[in-house]
Amino acid sequence: MKTKPVQFIMYNILLASSSRAFVRNNLPSNRLSKSFATSTNLFSTASETDQDNNNSSTQNDSEPFAHSEPFSPWDPVRLAEKVQSRNNAFRSRQHVNPLSAKFQQPTVLTPNWPYDTYDDLSKPLFLDIGCSRGGFLIDMATTQMKQQPGDATNNQYLEPDYNYLGLEIRPIVVYHAQKRIEKREDGGDASSLKGKLGFVGCNANVDLERLLQLLQDSNPEDLLNLQMVTIQFPDPHFKARHAKRRVVRPELVTTLAKFMPPGSTVWLQSDIQSVLDDMRFQFRLQSQYFQDSISPEIVDINANDDNDNDDESEAIQLDYVEENLLGVRTEREISVLERDLPVYRALFTRTDAQFSSD
Ligand SMILES: C[S@@+](CC[C@H](N)C(=O)[O-])C[C@H]1O[C@@H](n2cnc3c(N)ncnc32)[C@H](O)[C@@H]1O
Repeated sequence: MKTKPVQFIMYNILLASSSRAFVRNNLPSNRLSKSFATSTNLFSTASETDQDNNNSSTQNDSEPFAHSEPFSPWDPVRLAEKVQSRNNAFRSRQHVNPLSAKFQQPTVLTPNWPYDTYDDLSKPLFLDIGCSRGGFLIDMATTQMKQQPGDATNNQYLEPDYNYLGLEIRPIVVYHAQKRIEKREDGGDASSLKGKLGFVGCNANVDLERLLQLLQDSNPEDLLNLQMVTIQFPDPHFKARHAKRRVVRPELVTTLAKFMPPGSTVWLQSDIQSVLDDMRFQFRLQSQYFQDSISPEIVDINANDDNDNDDESEAIQLDYVEENLLGVRTEREISVLERDLPVYRALFTRTDAQFSSD
């Protein structure tokens, strides 16, 4: 049996002493009625065995949060130990299976999240889903900070003084992203991003709603101003039987519709045309909430060509936004463009329709 490190025990004591915040922050909103005793199992049962590398088991749909994994994969103390034991190497798998039991767990948030991350929670929010090492958001926030008040810019996405949030499923990768913010702070970097940029390790398909709800509840006006959402170069999961592993699922689009105000924006990019088309199709399916900036009529790209009007039912050629409208490139985008490969892009605007859960 492994001994629990002192650091880990101290961490548990600290967390237990913040029980209210812990329950609030570490249970999915639909499970808030569960007892605290159950919720602390995420930590108190943790330790002896190291099963966290089992990445193959899939979730039982009837028990969405029952899992055999004693540790959250994003537990910061264990991650720090893991990185140290590898001589601070941040190597990670290229892809993970988001449907594995391990990654179906709710993430572990600090007891005071989001107050400990953002200085001013009334600012509009910029959310990047699948942010990897966070380079895009770091560049976005840095570029925005360099703007002087009154600077003429024709890039509307750089103008508002945002809070930035990146979500990333690969634990070591998001740990690296978090360290990048700390390093700038420690190095006395004048463009410190602390207080306006945060990265959360989680499965966006599991935790997005809970995180946005927490942000909304922490907003001084109880109104989350989620102005910008980016989903860029998501993992393709090519095989049809793996389609459910893709991050843009109908539930994710519904959650965004719930929290995004009218006029806010969703920006999608991929170097794989079918991946972009699929994401775009998912947003178009909820066209009452999201309007495509190009050919706004609804096009079912998966429609069967089984009616008489052959001309009309021919596969419809979608147009794409040609340029990166944000003016800041992601790490993946840079590598794709360096190889002269195409990038497919789409932009959606949240309509005025009031969200209804029916
Ligand atoms: C190909 S990378 C692109 C990273 C970055 N957006 C870029 O353009 O450089 C896709 C990222 O999405 C992350 N990812 C995949 N599924 C996810 C999920 N369900 N929740 C959060 N992140 C996810 C992957 O781990 C990976 O880092």
